Amino acid sequence: MDSQALTIELDDEQFEAVLGDNLLSSLLSQGADVRYGCRAGACGACRLYDASNCESILSCQTTVASSMSLTQQTLAESSTFSVLSNVSLNDDSIELVLLGPSDDSFGDRVFVSLPFKETGEEANFEHAHFYECMALNPAGAPLKLVLQKAELNEKDWLRALALSAEDQVAVQLSTGVRKGRLLFEMDIADAPVVVISSPGNTMFESYWREALLDFTPNFVGHFTLFDNTDLTLSLADDALIAFLQEALTSSGGTSLQLIYHGQSVSAKDWAMLLRPLRVHLNQLHFVR
Ligand code: FES
Repeated sequence: MDSQALTIELDDEQFEAVLGDNLLSSLLSQGADVRYGCRAGACGACRLYDASNCESILSCQTTVASSMSLTQQTLAESSTFSVLSNVSLNDDSIELVLLGPSDDSFGDRVFVSLPFKETGEEANFEHAHFYECMALNPAGAPLKLVLQKAELNEKDWLRALALSAEDQVAVQLSTGVRKGRLLFEMDIADAPVVVISSPGNTMFESYWREALLDFTPNFVGHFTLFDNTDLTLSLADDALIAFLQEALTSSGGTSLQLIYHGQSVSAKDWAMLLRPLRVHLNQLHFVR
């Protein structure tokens, strides 16, 4: 086996890899801060971009064949959007509706930055941090996003709370990707569907319900995984199994489709849970 040492540059950091390594495993084993989810090529969470040719790769599906220069940043252009509304959903999350030049719709990923601003001053986005969010609006409607306290630094969370109509935020839109394809690509038209969320994604339930109504009259239900650091135990919880059994019964033998909105549970763990229920992994769709 060739043990040639290669260099992986990821944004401003350098990592080593050996020819034939799995790229994601190699980065994680060296403490790289990279996103991932299913580790099976299904959820897209581990997408990285080749800095030399701008092509995207799924790191969990990539075998290291040469040194690489990669970035986690999507190629994006930044535009200024006006706030149409800012509604508190609970103590830890707000819904923003934004007006600007976007053709993003449900499931697309956009990046939002909050302005530094003193009273009476122009919004200033210099050095501002961009937060990744999922577009929740239907096609053609103003961009709708949820910002969560847990994902923002303290100052940005206070800035987000203070936003009011006609304030401005900066939005980076992904370029070169097909927009609004998430539900089409799951191929769930008219199928019975359940959504299973990680604890941090519970507040998206009503958005899923609304978006799925356009695709299927068979939205069977929503389940939130327990906030448990032992994900295998969390998955095996009796309440989840009972929920799935009931959903399978009510879907009457038609192939039940499962959408997992989270990143922590791997495809392997899902397969262990779903096998005894006779649910195949191709009925499970990952959304980060
Ligand atoms: S596609 Fe790579 S982690 Fe899901």
